[in-house]
Amino acid sequence: MNILTISGSLRASSSNTRLVKAIMRLAPAGIETQLYQGLADLPHFTPDLDGGNPPASVLTLRQQLQAADGVLICTPEYAFGVPGTLKNALDWTVSSGDFSEKPVAAISASPLWSGGDKAHASLLLTLTALGANILEEGKIIIPMINKKLDADGNIVDPALLEDLKTVFSTFQRSFDK
Ligand code: FNR
Repeated sequence: MNILTISGSLRASSSNTRLVKAIMRLAPAGIETQLYQGLADLPHFTPDLDGGNPPASVLTLRQQLQAADGVLICTPEYAFGVPGTLKNALDWTVSSGDFSEKPVAAISASPLWSGGDKAHASLLLTLTALGANILEEGKIIIPMINKKLDADGNIVDPALLEDLKTVFSTFQRSFDK
């Protein structure tokens, strides 16, 4: 079984990208993880480009999603929503249906107390529109991320570490069904 992971941030020292990588290191035997790295390569979505011959970067996104048994997204919040780059990637999957019934963990992380809750709610709405199987225990909002994840990408908050480990058991249960 394999899980495609996506960080919604393009920032070089992104906490969400460090978090994604930390979560990937928690994967138990039997679950492979792969980090999607093409967010910045995608053109702005327009239905005009979404016809018979979409750009290569779009095909790569779709192929990686199709090959994945599940998807894990960690996103920051920008102006109470998900970053445009992440929403752009999700819009490219509307017509291809790559998220349909796909088990998905949706995580937001912010240095603020809100944990990016509005971006999280927005992400859930978009994933619902895409027909994803949003995993209950995969819905996680992480406040004060800078106190829970160090600069080297180590999770230093024991409660968060436990919550993140349960994400893999909930993925495993969805794969077993
Ligand atoms: C932010 N940030 C932010 N945080 C938040 O909790 N709610 C918000 O609405 C916003 N809005 C916002 C807009 C813009 C333009 C920037 C640059 C930042 C702060 C944001 O959570 C913080 O920069 C995170 O560190 C971004 O995530 P990464 O890049 O560390 O993963």
